[in-house]
Amino acid sequence: MTALYPPEPFRIKVVEPIQLIPPEARREALRAVGYNVFTLKAEDIFIDLLTDSGTGAMSQHQWAAIMEGDESYAGARSFFRLKEAVDDIFGFKHFVPTHQGRAAENILSAVLVKPGNYIPSNMHFDTTDANIRARGGRPTNLVIEEAFNPQSQHPFKGNMDIAKLRAFIERTGVANIPLGMITVTNNAGGGQPISMENIRAVAETYHSFGIPFYIDAARYAENCYFIKLREPGYEHKAPIEIAREMFSYADGFCMSAKKDAIVNIGGLLATNNDEVAQAIRNELILREGFPTYGGLAGRDLDAMATGLYEGLDESYLAYRLGQTSYLAAKLKEYGIPIIEPPGGHAIYMDAGRMLPHIPHAELPGIALATELYLTGGIRASEIGTVMFAYPDPDSGEMIYPQLELVRLALPRRTYTQSHMDYIARVVADIAQRASTLKGYKFTYAPKLLRHFTAKFEPL
Ligand code: F0G
Repeated sequence: MTALYPPEPFRIKVVEPIQLIPPEARREALRAVGYNVFTLKAEDIFIDLLTDSGTGAMSQHQWAAIMEGDESYAGARSFFRLKEAVDDIFGFKHFVPTHQGRAAENILSAVLVKPGNYIPSNMHFDTTDANIRARGGRPTNLVIEEAFNPQSQHPFKGNMDIAKLRAFIERTGVANIPLGMITVTNNAGGGQPISMENIRAVAETYHSFGIPFYIDAARYAENCYFIKLREPGYEHKAPIEIAREMFSYADGFCMSAKKDAIVNIGGLLATNNDEVAQAIRNELILREGFPTYGGLAGRDLDAMATGLYEGLDESYLAYRLGQTSYLAAKLKEYGIPIIEPPGGHAIYMDAGRMLPHIPHAELPGIALATELYLTGGIRASEIGTVMFAYPDPDSGEMIYPQLELVRLALPRRTYTQSHMDYIARVVADIAQRASTLKGYKFTYAPKLLRHFTAKFEPL
């Protein structure tokens, strides 16, 4: 039975036209950009599921807040409005705005990571991973084994394996671990949530060794709602109360506000450590801007302050996770292998299982992503070999990710139920002729973050 599609708790006041260009034009557009859908013109796309980051629809309250933005260079009213919201929800001693999540990661890495350091997490997302590597550090993923089993129905597949974490810290040595992290929800592992019990245990483990604990909070509000739905003891708590508890266990956080704060641009970085805060401010001034605007316009800070609360609104979160599970249920009806249970912000199709005849080295995720565009004008992103295969720094041998995924990320408050139905039909059509799809090879690949600019050729 198809899941219930909760009615959107909003109505549409402004529309943005989209169009499906003809099949031949899609084929030509894709060929012209070296088969990397990242580099297509957005105008040539019908339904854009590349990311849920910065692509959501702002509310009338956010647009109104934008008109009240204070563009003073220092000490703007907009900063203090944002500060009030950030203090209320997250409760850290110091915070700065940044222009987006990776800017916060860059600054945190610049301040804390030294060459040869190890940074454990459940799973780092690509920009965090790359920012740590760019400072000579080694990001280490210690998520529970269930995360790698797409059929496992574990309610919190983003959890960290506490035994593995403890063993890792003992083996690596506290001196080589300047901070420990966790990503909520676990984007690289299917947008899966982390339980409060696990966050508490992660914090206790880090703290028992004297290691500071930072949360990558990009999708913290969706995670809080999963906790409410799935973790005993939280069913009567408001998402904001759950958030307050979650952040009370951490020493700081970095966040892309382009997700759960429903803004088109923005980020946050916070800490309780006075010395680290001073170093962060100095680094921020060098790279982003003065600590009361951090690379954003005053109006962006106002939109974020308002969006932070909208992202925690319970009727919004029920609709948000309802839309994702509706699409997941449709795809399952058509027999499409996906990561189960579906995460908060996206459906992760298992391209490895859908295209078993295409090995890692022939990029099954690219084969599926290109076909989505050719068949239905849909843009999705590969989360597999192109994004995450790296040569081992010691042996040089290529290490492939365990899963070859293609992510259908759902922008917030942007697409409707009929869009979801269309997406499911396109995927079902592709699945019927999956065995005829061919692999791809690289014709260009940069060293870091290669999925953004790589080029391919069909085999
Ligand atoms: N952390 C997580 C968990 C993310 O998913 C992202 C971005 C970032 C940090 C970096 O934030 O883009 O504002 O610099 N994820 C986007 C995505 C790009 O499509 O999943 P940013």
